[in-house]
Amino acid sequence: MKSIQGAVQVCLRHRVYFTEELFRRGNSLLRDVLVKQEEGRPHRVLVVMDEGVHQAQPQLAVRIEDYVRGWDGCLDLVRAPLILEGGERLKNSYFHVSEIQSEIERHGVDRHSFLMAVGGGALLDVAGLAAATAHRGIRLVRIPSTTLSQADSGVGIKNGINAYAKKNFVGTFAVPFAVINDFSLLDSLSTRDKRSGYSEAVKVACIKDRAFFELIEREVERLKHFDALAMRRLIHRSAELHVRHITTCGDPFEFGSARPLDFGHWAAHKLEQLSGFRLRHGEAVAIGIAVDVVYSRLKGFLAAEEADRVLGILQGLGFELFAAELVHTDATGALQILGGLEEFRTHLGGELSVTLLRGIGDPMEAHEMELGLVTAAIRELEQRFKKTAQQPAKIGGPGLGG
Ligand SMILES: NC(=O)c1ccc[n+]([C@@H]2O[C@H](COP(=O)([O-])OP(=O)(O)OC[C@H]3O[C@@H](n4cnc5c(N)ncnc54)[C@H](O)[C@@H]3O)[C@@H](O)[C@H]2O)c1
Ligand SMILES: [Zn+2]
Repeated sequence: MKSIQGAVQVCLRHRVYFTEELFRRGNSLLRDVLVKQEEGRPHRVLVVMDEGVHQAQPQLAVRIEDYVRGWDGCLDLVRAPLILEGGERLKNSYFHVSEIQSEIERHGVDRHSFLMAVGGGALLDVAGLAAATAHRGIRLVRIPSTTLSQADSGVGIKNGINAYAKKNFVGTFAVPFAVINDFSLLDSLSTRDKRSGYSEAVKVACIKDRAFFELIEREVERLKHFDALAMRRLIHRSAELHVRHITTCGDPFEFGSARPLDFGHWAAHKLEQLSGFRLRHGEAVAIGIAVDVVYSRLKGFLAAEEADRVLGILQGLGFELFAAELVHTDATGALQILGGLEEFRTHLGGELSVTLLRGIGDPMEAHEMELGLVTAAIRELEQRFKKTAQQPAKIGGPGLGG
């Protein structure tokens, strides 16, 4: 048998910067990041902005235009920022990807130009897919504007949209040219979106860094009240752990089956879909973590006190740990959420690999999940955390033992 083979080796830099007031005149970070690529000609920049950011900070689009104009022709804004609806609905069709690409084509945004995306995880995912596929890849600068996207999704290297009723079915791996976390963008977030990203920080702490978990535990009250410094600490460490994983795990494009950063996500993705995206990704992740933590305990992998610390921290941060969709059943009486395991197995290519916990900061991979015990874990969450009108759920209810 004849063959020709070679190794395709590429080393890509992954850069994440932290700042405040990115578009303030005196802040040269963005200019420094964009310019000095090729001397001598202005860099074309197309800006795509999340409508939620635009509505909450209407002056921002003008400030971006002023900022770019202020740098003496080294940057060329090809048009006023393109405003697109924010949130999950944006990801539910291909339409907005082509909408961005048609602007890329119309304004001659080439492989030496930049697409700059300012928004939440959903907008960044859509813009990322448009950037990765136009001209087979143009430079993307991500400017995440939610806690979740600054702590997790925006600093990663994936993008995607939902299709065939599956989360992120169409997407690519593409390392962005740069990511810039501007903390001041978070000021205008709703409390719901300020909190939502905390669950991804708890996730990465659970699987990578017990000391970070303990820091979050100590700061729970401050985080619950959205203390700016506590939020920044959480975002910075969470982003750092995510980036470190991507750059050092040896499998950044996820060819293997292990997905430690997807801890809690098999249930979360299914729950988002079952809820018709009523639940935010981060809210679903909090519940997904709770399912896998209780399952880890029921399997005998995780001590009860450790499991309750994880549930306690999530509750302390203000997350609900039960949603009605967890116990929706199909015609055969089976919990629909369990379909998430099969979808995850298919996504991984046949062999299931679910991250569970042996301890906080001590993950393990499981290749089978006992459906009876997953169901028992869900029923326990229902018993402990389902809210009735009269009785808000409390940590420390029945089921604390085993
Ligand atoms: N690519 C990845 O690796 C990855 C990882 C994790 C999550 N995700 C995806 O990220 C998405 C969730 O992202 P998210 O939690 O950022 O939510 P989101 O993008 O859905 O945004 C939530 C809401 O906040 C608004 N908003 C955004 N920034 C704002 C601001 N500064 N002020 C006021 N309103 C603002 C948006 O318009 C939207 O209505 C999901 O689709 C999830 O699948 C992707
Ligand atoms: Zn996630």
